[in-house]
Amino acid sequence: MPDYENYKIAADYILERTGFKPELGIILGSGLGHFGDEIEDPIEVPYSDIPGFLQSTAIGHAGKFIFGTVSGKKVACMSGRFHYYEGYDFEELALPVRVFKLLGVRALIVTNAAGAVNESYKPGDIMLIRDHIKLMGGSPMRGKNLDEFGERFFDMGNAYTASLRKLALEAAEGSELTVREGVYFYMPGPQYETPAEIRAIRILGGDAVGMSTVTEVLTASHCRLPVLALSVMTNMAAGVLPQPLTSQEVIDTAKRIEKPFTKYVKDLIGRI
Ligand code: HPA
Repeated sequence: MPDYENYKIAADYILERTGFKPELGIILGSGLGHFGDEIEDPIEVPYSDIPGFLQSTAIGHAGKFIFGTVSGKKVACMSGRFHYYEGYDFEELALPVRVFKLLGVRALIVTNAAGAVNESYKPGDIMLIRDHIKLMGGSPMRGKNLDEFGERFFDMGNAYTASLRKLALEAAEGSELTVREGVYFYMPGPQYETPAEIRAIRILGGDAVGMSTVTEVLTASHCRLPVLALSVMTNMAAGVLPQPLTSQEVIDTAKRIEKPFTKYVKDLIGRI
């Protein structure tokens, strides 16, 4: 398990190589990676160059940091994220957000593709995550506590920062997208859920289901980094519709929504 010093080495490598001090960290979800093309004066740093960094294996994830300016804000964007289903332990998944923290960002924006559990949602809708449910054991904060980042036991009551959600709802007023708040239910994947699991998730209070984001938000809460998390409903969750779920459907919806979603996120960044 990395110690504080290991995170520091990774962050210092980036700061020295780029000479860039980002204000906002961004982690892009599956199919939403083209947001990186919107970054002005980009400086790219492949994960493979960074000492001790993880390597991206998921389809549709590029595996590099892109530093630059969006809507007048200095951003550090991760194009390619890390998931439990790739074989990483929860503890390893703390790394990216801790590096963001050490780069000095004041907030983290995360996007993801998710299945709509709430039957009033439609593919292409955006859900601002208001809260999450993770019933599966394990945590990126398991093991020795690194006091430099935060306390052993930490609050999750405002993990999805209320003031950022308010900004995101305001930004939605000028957008063609349907944006609302809801609860994200974490499932480890890589299999999609069974129809019975989705019925259970609905009863438990989940509005959307996905395989990412929660480890990042736990890590951000531990080091008191404000978070805004946006889920793109790429499909109705298992069992809602008669046909089987395919990753092609997820990719197709993400592609369809990419233009307005990119515009929305850009506008939002200008407000943060
Ligand atoms: N389930 C889990 N993860 C997902 C889904 C889903 O239906 N769609 C996109 N990511």
